[in-house]
Amino acid sequence: MKFIVNKGGCLTGRIRVPGDKSISHRSIMFGSIAEGTSRISGFLEGEDSLNTLRAFRAMGVEIDGPVDGKVVIKGVGMRGLQKPAAALDLGNSGTSMRLLAGLLSGQDFDVELSGDSSLSKRPMKRVTHPLAAMGAVVDSDAEGRPPLYIHGGTPLCGIDFVMPVASAQVKSCCLLAGLYATGKTCVTEPATTRDHTERMLHAFGVPVSRTGSTVCINGPAKLSACDIDVPADISSAAFFMVGASIAEGSDIVLEHVGVNPTRTGVIDILKLMGANIELQNQREIGGEPVADIRVKSARLKGIAVPEALVPLAIDEFPVIFVAAACAVGKTVITGAEELRVKESDRIQSMADGLQALGVDATATPDGMVIQGRGAGTASIAAGTVQSRDDHRIAMAFAMAGLCAHGEITINECANVNTSFPGFVALASGAGLDISSSSD
Ligand code: S3P
Repeated sequence: MKFIVNKGGCLTGRIRVPGDKSISHRSIMFGSIAEGTSRISGFLEGEDSLNTLRAFRAMGVEIDGPVDGKVVIKGVGMRGLQKPAAALDLGNSGTSMRLLAGLLSGQDFDVELSGDSSLSKRPMKRVTHPLAAMGAVVDSDAEGRPPLYIHGGTPLCGIDFVMPVASAQVKSCCLLAGLYATGKTCVTEPATTRDHTERMLHAFGVPVSRTGSTVCINGPAKLSACDIDVPADISSAAFFMVGASIAEGSDIVLEHVGVNPTRTGVIDILKLMGANIELQNQREIGGEPVADIRVKSARLKGIAVPEALVPLAIDEFPVIFVAAACAVGKTVITGAEELRVKESDRIQSMADGLQALGVDATATPDGMVIQGRGAGTASIAAGTVQSRDDHRIAMAFAMAGLCAHGEITINECANVNTSFPGFVALASGAGLDISSSSD
C-alpha cells in the first residue's frame, strides 16, 4: 500500500486517535493471567495488539471482542495458560515478543515465538540474557534473533538486573518473569522509561516498589481482574501535534490522550522548539494521566534535543525529524542509537527519505543533524520516499506533506495498521490531503 499526499492544508477540529499500544498489549497480558473477568475499553484494534490478543487465545484464554474497542477477558490465573498448538506468530510486534518472553518463561510448557521479517531481525539478547540469569532456558539463533524457543518447567528465581539500555520492554520482560519467580526481582534503568507495566500491575493488585531508578516486585505473585480504560496513544497523537505545528492556520484538539510523564517527551521537545501546545481537562483514569491536547500552528526553531528526553520520546523521533525539517535553524539529536533497532533503522530510513525530499539531513551513529529552512518557505520538496514497512516512518512523511511544495508519495505503508488503523480517514478528515492505493 502507498500513500499519496498533496501539498498544503492545515489540521483543525477535534479528533480521538486510537488507543495506546503499550497499554493495550499489557491489558491483554495481565487480564489473561489474572483471576476473574477484566473489561477493557479503548483497546487498540491494530495488528500489533491483536497479535498479543490472538496469542493468549491460542493459549486457551477466552477473550470476547474487540468490538468498538471493548474486550472482555476471562482470566485463567497465573497457572491457567495452556500450551498453544503451534508457534505464536507475533507479526511486527517487538513489545509482544519481549514481554511474552518474560511471561512465558514462567510456564510449564514449551513455546515458540516468531515474527515477520522486521521482527526476525531485532535484537533479543537484551531479554534472553537477564532471563537466563533468572534460570529460564530460551534459545534463539547465534546472533540472539527470533524465533525464540522457550523451554517450560524451569524454576525461576528473582535477580537484581541493571539494564545496559534504557528499555521499557526489557524492564517489563524481567518484571513479568519476576511474577513467576521465587523472591525479589529488581530492575535498575539507566534512564527513565515508560512505566505502564508498574502502574498496571498495581491496578491488578501486585505491589511494585520504586527506589530511585530501581523497580522491584516479589514473586510468586497473583493478579486480580481489573477494568482498564485505554487512553488515546500519545505516539499516534504526535503526528497531529507536529502536523498542526508546521501547517499554518492549524488549530486541533486531540482528545483523551495518555499523558503519562514517562511518555510526554515529544510535548517537551516540541515546546522547546516553540510549539503552541496546551493540555486541557487534565484528569487521571485508571492510574494513568489523561488530557485533551490543543495544538495551534507556530514558528518552530531548531534546537539541540536534551538527551534526557530521548527515552521519553523514543517512538516519536520520525515525526520530530519532520518538525526539525520545517523549523528555522539547526536541530541536533544525539543519544538516540536505539532508533537503529526499531521496526526499521529509523535514523537511516528518515535521513534517506528527508534527503529524497531535498532536506539537509545528516545521519549520525546516534541521531541526526537537520538544517531546517522554516515551514512557510517550502522546506520540503515533492518526491517519493520508502517507509521500509515501518508504520511510524510512513505517518511521519505523510505529515511532511503539510509543508511541502509538491506531491509526496510514500511506499510500503501497509504496516500503518499495526498501530493506527484508520489513519488515512482520520488524517484526511482533519485536513491532510492524503489518499492510499495499493502499490
Ligand atoms: C514499548 C517500549 C519501547 C517502544 C515500543 C513500546 C513498550 O521500546 O519503542 O514501541 O510498550 O514497552 P524499548 O523498550 O525497546 O525502548
